[in-house]
Amino acid sequence: MEKIRILNLSKRYGKVLAVDSATFSVEDKEFFSLLGPSGCGKSTVLRCVAGLEEPTEGEIYIGQTRVNSTVDGINVPTELRPIGMVFQNYAVWPHMTVYENIAYPLKIKKLPKELIQAKLKVALHTVGLERLADRYPNQLSGGEQQRVALARALIKEPEVLLLDEPLSNLDAKLREQMRFELKDLQRRTGIPILYVTHDQAEALAMSDRLAVMNAGRIIQVGAPTEIYTHPADRFVADFIGLMNFLPGRVLGRSGEEATVEFLGGHRLNVADRSGLSGGCVVAVRPEDITLSLTGPIRCRVEVRNYSGNLVDYKVRADDAVLRVQTPKTEIFAEGKELGITIHRAMLFQLGEGRGSG
Ligand SMILES: Nc1ncnc2c1ncn2[C@@H]1O[C@H](COP(=O)(O)OP(=O)(O)OP(=O)(O)O)[C@@H](O)[C@H]1O
Ligand SMILES: [Mg+2]
Repeated sequence: MEKIRILNLSKRYGKVLAVDSATFSVEDKEFFSLLGPSGCGKSTVLRCVAGLEEPTEGEIYIGQTRVNSTVDGINVPTELRPIGMVFQNYAVWPHMTVYENIAYPLKIKKLPKELIQAKLKVALHTVGLERLADRYPNQLSGGEQQRVALARALIKEPEVLLLDEPLSNLDAKLREQMRFELKDLQRRTGIPILYVTHDQAEALAMSDRLAVMNAGRIIQVGAPTEIYTHPADRFVADFIGLMNFLPGRVLGRSGEEATVEFLGGHRLNVADRSGLSGGCVVAVRPEDITLSLTGPIRCRVEVRNYSGNLVDYKVRADDAVLRVQTPKTEIFAEGKELGITIHRAMLFQLGEGRGSG
């Protein structure tokens, strides 16, 4: 069942079309991310769902309730929407303890004291802050403050949780750890999450599905594996993960397979439904290339970076420089003459989906 439904949502600020006809849904129990470069409109979508911005066009449903409709003049105020929110600057109140911070939304609802205590016990347990309930925010780490903000958003038992870059103030190690915590929390509570991030690794790691946005538009919606292995266009291919782009030419097709020529005459059969012919862009993931002494495309190692779990190379083949990532078991020296084998490639139209286009 859909918990958030967004239909043809547009938001204009003067001349800026921040969101351009966005349509997508978040299912029950789903972790759904909006991913895209800075300024593409992610926060604006979230703020429209939260009722902090009024859409220029479109409809928004939370559960069965239509909270926005520009046609019918509906705009349900924020405080009446069944949502919990956490932002980048998690805004915990410095003069209140952890307990008081989390209890605040229930206190203003004037719930009985015993009920507040019971709910607080559950909330503190959910985010693992039982032992820190009496501390003030300045006595907490960034990750702990973030958990206070999450608990405060969850305590009202909202139908959906809206999170806008909630981990971006944390250091790299803690951010990674919090990814697991957040996902675990979501699994335990079953609450659907609409999550905004510009960090593709974060979105891939945590989401059940994600929407990739660019310049106000939703370009592709899908599961992380689908988006990584079958990016809809060159922009998505470039934005998600690492990708080598090489000029090539389609020589022929047989069913859903195309034969391309690239890297100075090298030929490869590629699974491809685009129907492209003639000049094209051949896209290859660094892990879809192997390096060996005998590989068919001659190359030279220009730079080697050892990064612990893998080895990251820049190699020159023909007049192109390719990024290649191999397991740490095979380590070749800089300057070494080798061969590369390309196992998988994708084809895109020349000039398509580049940069913000
Ligand atoms: N209140 C506003 N007035 C005018 N323009 C705005 C306003 N809020 C956002 N914008 C513009 O709308 C566009 C989308 O902004 P938004 O904050 O949604 O981007 P974002 O994807 O969340 O980016 P980031 O990753 O940097 O947070 C940007 O071009 C931004 O400058
Ligand atoms: Mg933003």
